[in-house]
Order: sequence, then structure tokens, then C-alpha cells
Amino acid sequence: SRKNLKVCIVGTGYVGLTTGVCLAGIGHDVVCIDIDEKKIRMLKAGQSPIYEPGIEDLLKVAADKLSFTTQYTDCKDADVIILAVGTPSAKSGKADLSYMEAAVTEIVNYLHGEKFQVVVNKSTVPVGTAQRTEMIISSILHKQNRQANFAVASNPEFLREGLAVHDTFYPDRIVIGAKNTEALNSLRNMYAPLLEQTFAAPKACPRPEGFPLPALITTDVTSAEMIKYAANSFLATKISYINEISGLCEKVGADVTEVARGIGLDKRIGSRFLQAGVGWGGSCFGKDTAAIINTGLEYAYEMPIISAAVAVNKRQRSRMIEKLQESLKVVRGRTIGLLGLSFKPDTDDLRDAPALDIIRYLVEMGARVKAFDPIAMPNCKAYYPELAVEYTDDVLQLASGCDAVLLITEWDEFRRLPLEQLAERMTGSKVFVDGRNIVDPGVAQEAGLLYIGFGRSGYESGWGYNWRRFHRQLTGKQAVGE
Ligand code: UDX
Repeated sequence: SRKNLKVCIVGTGYVGLTTGVCLAGIGHDVVCIDIDEKKIRMLKAGQSPIYEPGIEDLLKVAADKLSFTTQYTDCKDADVIILAVGTPSAKSGKADLSYMEAAVTEIVNYLHGEKFQVVVNKSTVPVGTAQRTEMIISSILHKQNRQANFAVASNPEFLREGLAVHDTFYPDRIVIGAKNTEALNSLRNMYAPLLEQTFAAPKACPRPEGFPLPALITTDVTSAEMIKYAANSFLATKISYINEISGLCEKVGADVTEVARGIGLDKRIGSRFLQAGVGWGGSCFGKDTAAIINTGLEYAYEMPIISAAVAVNKRQRSRMIEKLQESLKVVRGRTIGLLGLSFKPDTDDLRDAPALDIIRYLVEMGARVKAFDPIAMPNCKAYYPELAVEYTDDVLQLASGCDAVLLITEWDEFRRLPLEQLAERMTGSKVFVDGRNIVDPGVAQEAGLLYIGFGRSGYESGWGYNWRRFHRQLTGKQAVGE
């Protein structure tokens, strides 16, 4: 028989709120704590402050197991206290731990000797933070001449935005770092339902067919912290790797989508995260790669592979502009339309989005910029209030009067673009730069667009396309490779 635990979660951002509603969904008594009164008011009213499928359903379904407050007092009888506060990165790449330290200082007041309590780090924190947290708690207790029965554990999450609830219920693995067996048992108990074959998440999120049970990895705190950075840096590197290959594909005349298919079928490599294009963005990859490089620097240890992955990712954004210059020659005064702004589809999140850099470049180059995104336009307006970006209602309104359209985010609806209608509304050479390689070059070309992809032989700068078309006009035959 399983025991339901009392869990306090500090921080109701993506990680904290998702964890909170999911743990309540599997029967634990959860209290979510946040210093932001507005957020707490919304949550009490059953509204999610973040856009994330499934959260509002769980707020309803698990309402009797969930409460929201700005006070820390409930930590007093918590079995588990989860820290999920923000750890923004400073310019240097170093994580800012001030929210973390403030939360820890509050929590200590509610740690006591009557029962065992685990303090869990779920925020992405620099390697060594769990040990530091333990030292901070111990030294405060010492000063107050008090004792408590506690341990600090590390329990990193790997949830993707837009799939946060799904990833929490059905993770590939659950990582628990703790040196103390009591802490380990407590957390194993907390996650027990997710590790059972019979587990069925509350309605809105059923187990996908054939989805394997998560692996449970128990390890020391520092290794657990390292796993998070190593995983995200690896994924970022994997994307930069295929992006680096895509550039060479353009030179030698290969198609990176074919190459990715060919290498991805090797089970040791795997086919996911091999989509070449304008590169990665989001709240995690940029921050985590910067942080791991920074940790290395503290030990005078260089991380050349991860540093290169970051540089390649930056270069992809410039490549987009270069492609535009190679085809348009003059960018100043031209009208450029951006299809998609968010760093990935199904979110309005603009953090580290390639679109932000690209808008900046285009404005600096003197282009007139138009944009369309299904949901991220208000955020972009707020981010760049000073820039005269023209926001439009749909893809056709966007294309109207554009010399070039740049596809930045692979929203599902952009996979079925009315290319001919787009072309009809565009002017000049009707350049279409596909930053995600999701449009069929042949179809785009038939529709009258000058298609440019990333690493797609013959479609790297628009000139391949022209060359093919001229070849066909001159000879009546298709060009090699067409
Ligand atoms: C990521 C990790 O996947 C998750 O495990 C971690 O905890 C947080 O960071 P997220 O940032 O939500 O999640 O998005 P993800 O779906 O991983 O995409 C990240 C970026 O990589 C996006 O900008 C996406 O467009 C880009 N990407 C992804 C590619 O450019 N090519 C690919 O093949 C895959």
C-alpha cells in the first residue's frame, strides 16, 4: 500500500506548476507556493498563468488535492519540499541563484526534527547547488541553535514546453540524486504510481500506446545535476551537428534531409533532433549550454564541443540573412515577411527565439518587416515595442507585397501553405526561405516561388533554382539532380 505524501512546491512556473498539478493528479496532497500574488489569485480561480495543454484540466480534476498560497507555512508538515523557482542566467552565463537562496532561507523556518523532510531541487541549477543548499540550511539551523531531520536531493526534469504534462506523466526516466536512503525512499514513493504498469493518468492525458515505463535512476546529487546539463547540451549539440553538416551539403551538392534520414536509422545515432534549419532556441538550450561552459571555466576546463555547438547555432541565424542577401542582393527597402516567431510550434514563448535576432538584423539592414504567428505576436510586440514590425492576420496578408518570406517556426499550418496564393501576392523575385526544411522545394518552385532551404542541394541560395529553371528553358530537359 502506498502512502500519499504532503508535497510543497515553491515556484509556479512551467516546472513547478506542471509538477504540482501532476503530483496532485496521482493522489498526493500538494501546496503550490509563489510570491507572485497575481499568479496565486489566478490559480485559485482555476486558471493557468501559462499556456500548457492539460494544466487547466488537472486544476479541475485534482482540485481537492491542490491548494495555492503565497505563504510558506504549509512547509511545516510537508514530507517533500520541491524548489522550482526561476534561475535566470546573467549575461556571463552564470545562473542567478537569488530566488533559490531566498526560498531556501524561508523554508528553513519550517524544517524541524519531528519528522523526516526532503528538500528537492527541481530547478536547473549549477552543479554543486544541492551540496551548497545543504550547507546553507545547516548553517542557518546552527545559528538558530536548532536541529532538523532533513536531506537535500536533486531531481531534474526533462519536460518539453507544450508537452509538459505528458512528459511529467510519461518520462523516459526519472532521475533522483540523493545520498540519504530515507530521501531516496521518500522520492521513490512520490513517483511510485508513474512506475507502475497499471498507471493511468487522469483522463486528459492517457498513456500513449506501447509507451514504455520510465526507468528510475538513483544516483548521487552531483551526478543528477550533471545529467540535466549533459542531456540538454547533447541535444543542442546534436542539432548544431546536423546544421554544420547541412552547410557542407550545400557546398558538395547533397541533401541534408536525406543525410539525416540515412544517419538517423543507425540506432546508435537515432533520428530525432536531426532537423537542420535556422537552429535551436527556447528557455533551456541557450541557458544550459552557457551554464555548463561557465561551470567548466570555474575549473579552468574548456568545453570546446559545446562552445562550438553554440557558435554553430548563432551562425545558422546569420545564414538565414546571408541566404536572403545572396538572392535579393539589396535588402534595404525590401519587404520581408516572417512566418512564425515562437522558438518552436504550439507555444507563444519567444525566449531566445531565432526570430528575435532575425527581426533585429532585418531592421538594422533597413528592410520593412512583416510578421505572422498564430499565437506569439502579442509577445513579440511587447518585446520589441520600438520596432515598426507590421503584424498581420494570416499568411496571405503576410505575403502581400513581400519580396521574401522567411519561415522560422514549423507551425503545423505552415506545412500546408497555399503556396500559389502566396506567390500571387508577393512581388519581385518571390523568395521563400524555409528555415525548417518543411516545404517541398519542387512544389514551391511550381507555385512560382524562389525556394531556398537549409542544406538542400540546389536550393541553398536561390541560384540553384534559377540555374535549373534556365537549364530547363534552354534545353527542354531537367537538370542533373532535379
Ligand atoms: C528542451 C528539451 O527537449 C527538454 O528536455 C528540456 O528539459 C528543456 O529544453 P524545449 O526547449 O521545450 O525542451 O523544446 P524542444 O522541443 O527540445 O526544442 C528546442 C529547440 O530546438 C527548438 O527551437 C526547436 O525548433 C529546435 N530543434 C529541435 C531543431 O532545430 N531541430 C531539431 O531536430 C529539433
